[in-house]
Amino acid sequence: KNPPANRLTSSQKCIRTNDIFNVGVNDHKIKFFEGQYPVPFGMAYNSYVILDEKIAVTDTVDRNFGHEWLENLEKVLKDRQPDYLIVHHMEPDHSANIAEFLNKYSSAKVVLSAVAVNILKAYFGDAFNARLQTVKEGDCLELGLHTLRFIGAPMVHWPEVLMSYETSEKVLFSADGFGSFGANDVDTEEYWDDEARRYYYGIVGKFGTQVLNVLKKAAALEIKTICSLHGPVLTGDLSHHLEEYTKWASYESENDGVFIPFTSVYGHTEEAVNLLAEKLRASGKDVKTMNLAENDLSYALDAAFLYKNVVFATTTYNTGIYPFMNDLITRLVEHGFCKTNVAFIENGSWAPSAARIMKEKLSECKELNFIEPVVTVKGALNTASKEALNSLSEKLK
Ligand code: FEO
Repeated sequence: KNPPANRLTSSQKCIRTNDIFNVGVNDHKIKFFEGQYPVPFGMAYNSYVILDEKIAVTDTVDRNFGHEWLENLEKVLKDRQPDYLIVHHMEPDHSANIAEFLNKYSSAKVVLSAVAVNILKAYFGDAFNARLQTVKEGDCLELGLHTLRFIGAPMVHWPEVLMSYETSEKVLFSADGFGSFGANDVDTEEYWDDEARRYYYGIVGKFGTQVLNVLKKAAALEIKTICSLHGPVLTGDLSHHLEEYTKWASYESENDGVFIPFTSVYGHTEEAVNLLAEKLRASGKDVKTMNLAENDLSYALDAAFLYKNVVFATTTYNTGIYPFMNDLITRLVEHGFCKTNVAFIENGSWAPSAARIMKEKLSECKELNFIEPVVTVKGALNTASKEALNSLSEKLK
């Protein structure tokens, strides 16, 4: 896997081209992005400035960083005034400081999609109506040497989203697309592959069809740099990033190994999981097990999409299934889980029914291939359940 080229080191050193600057901020205070996703490496909210005869600022940042962002912006603008605020995405992690910006720069106009107008009004009322300039797919905004051409990107990740392509420096401003968890001043190996994928499946992944539509449009462009609203600016050889994104959007599993998410109340289900994992590993299979009580569901969601084979292992509980597994399957169904080989390990001391319930819950998913046998553990492993695990391992090898 390629690490991201030329990873950014701080918001003030984010100059990617002669005239385009990143004035975004890094957030190390955040516990959960969108109130739910743990971000151990923090989070970046990117915002860019294109300096030309006319000056365009693209998007704002999270509400807690308005002051820092405006300071970053001032340092790049020096004494000049911005002409445009380009709103690619109205979600508050990027739009929270629109009013502050417009109050400070009273001649600037807001360039946005027609759908974004209604969302902007929902957050900021009608005070800025006279300063809104709508654009659509194919429209161009001339800045001087630089031109922004707008690309419709509905549902990547909200309906109003626009991307834009700067034609002279061949920069794609990709909104949430190609975004990643993690601040830009943190350097971790495999940062982009793992954290961009977890971000993708958690936040954008339900909208694979729409992402593929935009990727088709992007394929017609020569792109030298991708400026996302989150994570590092991507530049250099972008083929790896484009290929990865296409795979994710197509719901193609990248790993032909086995992912086994499980819950275990007294350790017996975990024993069954470990026995299956041991058999599969002995045959050379890549196996990842995950106790759902100990890991955030976003990691399990990511792994379930990443692996070609998923064995769900849980107990019957309150006539349903154990809560963490119920949450995972609910999220998978919501996110369009598909194209995967699926098997079950169930545990129930007197009336095991977890496998039937899990299968019913997954029935809305497309192109799942259910693999037999279902392994039933009645309390603790016995000869029959060990034999079933053996049979299942043979099918998964
Ligand atoms: Fe980063 Fe959909 O907002």
